[in-house]
Order: sequence, then structure tokens, then C-alpha cells
Amino acid sequence: MSDQRPGSTTGSGAPAPSDRNTLSVGSNGPLLLHDVHFLEQMAHFNRENVPERRPHAKGSGAFGVLEITEDVSQYTRAALFQPGASARALLRFSTVAGELGSPDTWRDVRGFALKFYTDEGNYDIVGNNTPVFFLRDPMKFPHFIRSQKRLPDSGLRDNNMQWDFWTLNPESAHQVTYVMGQRGLPRTWRQMNGYGSHTYMWINAGGERYWVKYHFHTEQGLAFLTNDEAAAISGTDADYHRRDLFEAIRRGEHPSWRLSVQVMPYADAHDYRVNPFDLTKIWSHADYPLVPVGRLTLNENPVNFFAQIEQAAFSPGNTVPGTGLSPDKMLLGRAFAYNDAQRNRIGTNFHQLPVNRPKDSVAVNTYMVDGQMAYEHSGAAPVYAPNSMGRAWSDTTGTAEDGWETDTEMVRSAYRLHAEDDDFGQAGTLVREVMDDAQRDALVAQVGGALSGGLTAEVLERALRYWASIDPAVGKRIEEQVRGGSGPERAGGGGAG
Ligand code: HEM
Repeated sequence: MSDQRPGSTTGSGAPAPSDRNTLSVGSNGPLLLHDVHFLEQMAHFNRENVPERRPHAKGSGAFGVLEITEDVSQYTRAALFQPGASARALLRFSTVAGELGSPDTWRDVRGFALKFYTDEGNYDIVGNNTPVFFLRDPMKFPHFIRSQKRLPDSGLRDNNMQWDFWTLNPESAHQVTYVMGQRGLPRTWRQMNGYGSHTYMWINAGGERYWVKYHFHTEQGLAFLTNDEAAAISGTDADYHRRDLFEAIRRGEHPSWRLSVQVMPYADAHDYRVNPFDLTKIWSHADYPLVPVGRLTLNENPVNFFAQIEQAAFSPGNTVPGTGLSPDKMLLGRAFAYNDAQRNRIGTNFHQLPVNRPKDSVAVNTYMVDGQMAYEHSGAAPVYAPNSMGRAWSDTTGTAEDGWETDTEMVRSAYRLHAEDDDFGQAGTLVREVMDDAQRDALVAQVGGALSGGLTAEVLERALRYWASIDPAVGKRIEEQVRGGSGPERAGGGGAG
């Protein structure tokens, strides 16, 4: 090379002849099939894209550390939660419905997906910025996501389809109320909370089991966008949240969250006033106050977005000793869904990629062999278990430590109802007791606007009944707004219902 810098290479490491000129017969002549470097470049380019995540396609994230500042060892023996422990973490934020290039500031739930690289393998908490969800049975999840995405004929998003699904599934009321409120438009990812949302299990050194819910409270303070701000930003900077996080960390402003848990004694689950495994419900903080655990700080940007964020593979099925799942049907459905999606999206051996593999000190001894792009291997060690050559294999028998009692025979049925279980009660409490007057006014305006265009008469009727069931007064104000109203919105709350 004329300037003496080493040039590029082919994929196999040999010096590449030119990144500028193809090989041709004379300067105007045809190109040659044996220009291997050119062919390699073209062929690889055609394969650069991998499928985007079906939900939560648009997002970004950063690495950081979880530091345990309190002693919760009476509830869990998991190494990562022991007093003084610290674990490297990856946190990916996302929108749910939008595709890879969609604006960060469209109204939506935001994903809050965590991977902790612990001494006992990776532990993932794949949550959202809300403590509840739209559904309580995973059978409905694909239908839900399709209803939030695009029409089959025009490829357009559709208000009618979204409200049709929500109102036909009234268990969505609590989460819809959150999303139509401020949480649907966080100002930045740094200024929102994260929740595990589900009920998980913790197990202590004595084998005692507890039910827990994870809460990550932002130390930057909660902040939100107005509809107008969000719309303006969507049109000028589709990557607003991604940019904010990356630039803040690059400036040395490291966002942090306080981790707390609600802890429910195992036996309480039987007759707590709502079914504690129903993902559309919260547990009252008066019943189960927050127990402080530690602090999560993001302090390291990815150096390669594709390798470390796009190929990151989170799964609620990734648990470690001292933690477990719960009878939450949504959680159990998710325990399968994620790794299966990643085998399709990234490849059979996605778990071998640096961002997904456990930390170096954790010895991996898996009997999953071969497959596309197998990189790590166990050499000549036996590939089957049990074996008589000394390769370790597992053989736990008896009652599952992280298990629970099941009811009786196999059924397809809704959850057993607890005393205060219904679809609208907690959504109504959120409207009346958590939101203030201004937030209620904004909710009425938001929902009134959302219902004012594109809905069929049938879906509109159902949507109005849905909001009247959440709160009669708020429902009435929404109806007045949608029907052209009886004068201006009154300034006061109206939530007393
Ligand atoms: C049965 C219910 C659910 C199913 C089947 C499901 C399925 C999926 C799938 C297939 C992905 C893409 C995974 C990938 O390609 O890597 C995904 C992503 C995600 N889901 Fe779910 N999901 C469910 C419910 C939930 C719930 C209840 C939450 C939050 C509480 C949630 C939070 C997320 C997040 C944050 C991501 C993005 C993860 C990332 O950043 O890579 N999902 N979901």
C-alpha cells in the first residue's frame, strides 16, 4: 500500500487485494468470478440482517453493576443477592410494538430487560416499566402482539384493532390505564422505573421459599413527555431515548436505580385478597412493603451495538440457585418462549456468544453439542450422560426445591378467584387514588383522543363501557369528549366515582 498502512483482509485473514476496485478484464471489461474478495463482500452483505425481535424490536442498552447494600439472606441464598456482592449487568430498554426503526417516543410500554453475570450462571429479569401486564394467560400473547402491530392488508397500525383486543380482554384494564397515563411516554429511559412485574420465588439457605416482586426505582427522578413533545420528537429524532442513554453514559453521568423487593411468605399466597400470581394485579405496599436490596448503576456503553445489544438474548427462564419461577402462567409461558425465539433470531448456539455466555469463572458443562456456528466445545469428552469416563452430569431427584404444590387434575381454566379478584378494581384505584387531578385530566384527554378516530361503532361502545367500568366519572368524561361533549372539560379530578 502506498501509505504503508496494513490493508484489510479477507474473512480468512489473507491480505485483501482492494476495497475500491473490482477485478475486471480491462478497465471497462466484465468482472471476474474469481474476484473472491468482491464475492465475499457481496455475499456477506446479503446476510447482514437477522430477524428483529418480534415484540420489543426497537431498543438499546448498556452494561453496569448491581451492588447489594442490604442483607436479604434470610429470603434467598442466591450468590448475587448476598450482602456486599456485586455482579456485572446488562440492561436493555425497548418499546414493545414498534419495529426496528420506529420512534422511541411513541406511546407504549417500555421493556426493562436485565441480565446479571453471576458466579452461579446468568440470572435474567425481563421486565417492563409497569408493575402489571395486559394478560394473565400466555395463550393470548401472540394475539395481543398481533393486535398492536399491523393490519394484514394495508400494513398499517390500527386504533380499532388495538381497542377491539383490549376491550374483548377486560383483564387488560389495569395495564391500559398505566399506558394511557404518564408511563406510556417516559421522558428518557433513565427517568423511568423498572419492574420484574411477575411474582418470582426466592429460596433461602434453609430451603424456605418466599414469593417476591422486583422493583427498580430510578434515582434520576421520574419524568414524562407530553403528547405534543413526544409527537415532535418522533418527527425529528426517532432515536431520542437511545441517544440520551448513550450520551449520558459517555459524559460520565451513570444512571442508577434502587432495587427493592416485596416479599410474601409462601403460605400467604393461598388466600391473599388477590391471586398473587395474576400478572394483571399488584400487591398492595401496605400489605407487603418494599424491602431494600441494593443499587443498579449503568456505567459502560456497548462498543458494538449489533454484537452486544442486538444479539443479546434475555430469558425469564434463566434462573440461578436461590431463585425460581412461580405459578404465574404468563411467566411459565415465557420460560419457553424466549430461548426459542433466539434460536430462530440469532442461531442455535446463541448462548455461546460473548454477550450471552456466563462470566469466565463459571464452568459451563452442557451436553448440547454441535449445531450451526458451534464455537465452544468439550473436546473429546463423552457427549452423553450418564457415562463411565468421569464427565460430570446431574441427577437431582425428589421434590423440586423451587417447585410448588399443584391443585389436582389437568384443566384449561382461568385462575381460581381470590376475594378481591376482578378486572377493573385495581385500574379504578390507580385512577382514583394514585393519579392526581392533572394526571386524571391528561388520562381523559388521552383516551378521549385515542377513541375519537377510526373505531367501529361496536368497538367504541365497548371501549366506553370498559372505561365506565374502570371509573364511572372518568368514563363519563371520556364519553362526553368522544361524543362532542357537553362543554369544556371540567378542571377537577372527577375520579371520585
Ligand atoms: C406469555 C407472555 C409473553 C411471551 C410469549 C413473550 C415473548 C417474547 C419474545 C418472543 C420476545 C423476543 C425475544 C427475543 O427475540 O430475544 C420478547 C421480548 C421481550 N419481552 Fe416478552 N413475552 C411475554 C410477556 C412479557 C411480559 C409479561 C413482559 C414484562 C413483564 C415482557 C417483556 C419483554 C421484554 C422486556 C422483551 C425484550 C427483551 C430484550 O430486550 O431483548 N414480555 N417477549
